[in-house]
Amino acid sequence: MKIVHAFCQVVSKLLNKPRVYDENEITKRCYRLFHFVAEKTKLMSEYTEGYYKDGQNTPYELAQEYQIEEILDKVKCGKETQLLEVGCGNGGLLRAAKKRGARAVGITVCKEQVEHLRKEGLEVYLCDVRELEKQFNSELFDAIVCNGSIEHYVKNKDALEGKDDLIYKSIFKKFSSVLKPGGLAMTTTIHMKERKLNNYIASNLGDHKYLSHNWRLAVLIQFYGGWYPSEGQLERCSEPNFKKIYEYDATKDYLYTSLDWKRRFLRGMLNPINLYHMFCGVVDSLTKDPYFAYIALVYFKSGTWTWQFEGENPPVKHLWKVWEKVST
Ligand SMILES: C[S@@+](CC[C@H](N)C(=O)[O-])C[C@H]1O[C@@H](n2cnc3c(N)ncnc32)[C@H](O)[C@@H]1O
Repeated sequence: MKIVHAFCQVVSKLLNKPRVYDENEITKRCYRLFHFVAEKTKLMSEYTEGYYKDGQNTPYELAQEYQIEEILDKVKCGKETQLLEVGCGNGGLLRAAKKRGARAVGITVCKEQVEHLRKEGLEVYLCDVRELEKQFNSELFDAIVCNGSIEHYVKNKDALEGKDDLIYKSIFKKFSSVLKPGGLAMTTTIHMKERKLNNYIASNLGDHKYLSHNWRLAVLIQFYGGWYPSEGQLERCSEPNFKKIYEYDATKDYLYTSLDWKRRFLRGMLNPINLYHMFCGVVDSLTKDPYFAYIALVYFKSGTWTWQFEGENPPVKHLWKVWEKVST
């Protein structure tokens, strides 16, 4: 691993592309790479967990479908519902909402996702959640879904500066402003059990013990560009605009999905066409930001995504929550 690290630093210098500390840019690079690989290989239909309501043996595709349908039921999505998905990824939830007769609108910060989904006729905008009220009129939507996107709203730098509460509060306020009275919001979010502040984004992986807790967090944060809220933080920051009306612990569901992803990718690598697309994705990242390509390799090789959900007492909890808008 040290040799790969040294190699990437040399390539980085040769290409005159310095390491990127801008966490917004890192998030975009991460989803560009996923888009490249997921879209071309079809090994990963969505970027979040499935719902294994029939147990761990639920087939991957069915678990993904169950999750989307469960979320749409929870936000009461039906004919003519005006639904907004913040962070719409590959568009699975938008398609399912449209099938129910809803007007389904998505926003994302990944331009490759926008281009791809628009070609399919879906209503998707390149818009950061922070600009929500500039993009949409007030009281437009009946429901908002954030399926795995809250993890990107606050960045490591924001948390170090103590701004995380302020950012979550302002986002709940934005949700409230674009939702109709009594509207519902559903969030599915990985939460930290303990808020351990550290400059993970700027840290050199070599500064941490290989595979230690801090090493893993540095890899995660340097790969996806974000920060996990702590347990109870969203409840605190949702007030006085929302009250929580439902919660489900989906940590096991995320573990099963992560194991399914791993199996699917390992099996998928036996197909030379998939291998070619993965190779192209890595080369694309390498030419744009060799350090990011290095982190991506370390991330996949070390199984760091799955690590966070494993064991008797995993470091994170993945929670689904439904929020009802409160008139203030
Ligand atoms: C983990 S993916 C989830 C995608 C999709 N909801 C799913 O279930 O597969 C996170 C999504 O959030 C988007 N995203 C990240 N930061 C965002 C932000 N600040 N504003 C809007 N979307 C954002 C990403 O581009 C990506 O589409």
